[in-house]
Amino acid sequence: MAASWLKDAVFYEIYPQSFCDSNGDGIGDIQGIISKLDYVKSLGCNALWLNPMYDSPFKDAGYDVRDFKKIAPRYGTMEDAVELFRVAHEKGIRVLMDMIPGHTSEEHPWFLAGTQDDQGELAHRYIWTDNAFTRGDTMPFIGGEFPRNGTYIINYFKCQPALNYGWRKINEPWWQQSIDSPHALQTREAMKDVMRFWLDKGCDGFRVDMADSLVKNDGPEKLGTMEVWKDITSSVRKDYPDMALVSEWNNPRQALNCGFDMDFFLDWHGNGYSSLVRDYLLPKFGEELKDGNSYFKSTATRDISRFLEDYLPQYEGSRDKGLWCLITANHDCCRVAPVLDDLERRIAFAFLFTMPGAPFLYYGDEIGMPYRWTKTVEGAYNRAGSRTPMQWNNGKNMGFSQADAQKLYYPVDTAPGAVNVADQDHDPASFLNHMRGIIALRHAHPDLQNYSPFTVFSAEKGSRLFAYKRGSYLLAVNPGLETVDLALDGKYEVVYTIGNPAVEGEKLTMNGQSFIVLKPAE
Ligand code: NOJ
Repeated sequence: MAASWLKDAVFYEIYPQSFCDSNGDGIGDIQGIISKLDYVKSLGCNALWLNPMYDSPFKDAGYDVRDFKKIAPRYGTMEDAVELFRVAHEKGIRVLMDMIPGHTSEEHPWFLAGTQDDQGELAHRYIWTDNAFTRGDTMPFIGGEFPRNGTYIINYFKCQPALNYGWRKINEPWWQQSIDSPHALQTREAMKDVMRFWLDKGCDGFRVDMADSLVKNDGPEKLGTMEVWKDITSSVRKDYPDMALVSEWNNPRQALNCGFDMDFFLDWHGNGYSSLVRDYLLPKFGEELKDGNSYFKSTATRDISRFLEDYLPQYEGSRDKGLWCLITANHDCCRVAPVLDDLERRIAFAFLFTMPGAPFLYYGDEIGMPYRWTKTVEGAYNRAGSRTPMQWNNGKNMGFSQADAQKLYYPVDTAPGAVNVADQDHDPASFLNHMRGIIALRHAHPDLQNYSPFTVFSAEKGSRLFAYKRGSYLLAVNPGLETVDLALDGKYEVVYTIGNPAVEGEKLTMNGQSFIVLKPAE
């Protein structure tokens, strides 16, 4: 049973490096986050996802963990983290940490313990082959680095050796271990221990990095990985029934069937989600980002079908198991500004925030912060443009930090008129207040909340109009420039609009770039 607080949870993702620097060292920190919790609350967000804040050499922005039980000094101390959980709870905000079960840093003591020879308690915490010349079966591997006579599998970058959860299909039994081998089981126990550690400190659960990556040679059905997760989630949940888990998996039919409460619909080029707002391949450094044909681009020709092709089978196959979550962006993909303009984004986000699943708002998207090409830091590469400092006001470093500009983790936006919170806060027409409005709407109407059912009402081939039901409510969106009419199935009252859509009897007229929420007439 999922935690009851998920019913109306609206998440805000914070990339801690870039949110708020409280001590003037040029990098965001935990006290900075605490100082902005009232702001988060003012958005209507009642839950946070924090990217990793553990001790790390930061070759992949903290996704290379050196010590799962220590806060990286640049963010503060364990006391700061506990204070963050406490103050957030006082304000009605839940906090998810990032959990990275698939790999660690190559500097983690678990890994270092196995680099000399193949003996010892931790010799098989990672996946080592039997010989320095053995290749990694289907997996990427590293050799020639350490005295141990073997190569080891990596999970992502070179600095991230894969933890050993075993192999489902064993091709080379002299070094591949099964899912229930003693070492693979010990890895699971070690991860459960990390989860319990943070839940005891007061966090409310985890966003789980590359959750589908644990078992090797697992095939598309991921049966081995699912078996591992069933065990981990059920044993931890027994003691922490209120915790929430969201997976980076992009397959709710799998993720929600092995103990996750939520799964992300990820931004993968060409898939249903990217067809909505990011129909482009990344250009070369510094080149302008150009939209291909995203559904929410006013001039696009696309209808909603590419999105529905991916969304519907997964949604319908998992809706009674949990939530499939839509995001505005995250630290790995491009922000949708400036490729979508202000009005296009208002309509796109109104759609995202009236869909089922718990919505995730990426810091800065609520003020229209743009993707900005900038130099890579800590393994970001193309992702750097979505990780720049939060723009709070027109002051020094846009209010992000008191440090000298050259000391900042990433440069702030120095463009004249760069968007910021202070300018938008009291302007009722601002993008920020649009976001507050749409989130408040969701909270005010149970039919629009996370578990309320979604059905397609109208999605004609070639039409820019899409109409859908949430519970008894009817919603329609027309991101295109032409007016489109729609026959309704009864009498409705208008709850919310963008643009000038009109209802006359049982006919809805959606003018260009409009959005409407209707509820059945009393
Ligand atoms: C997904 C994370 O979101 C990303 O930022 C990271 O680089 C990889 N997983 C590796 O942990």
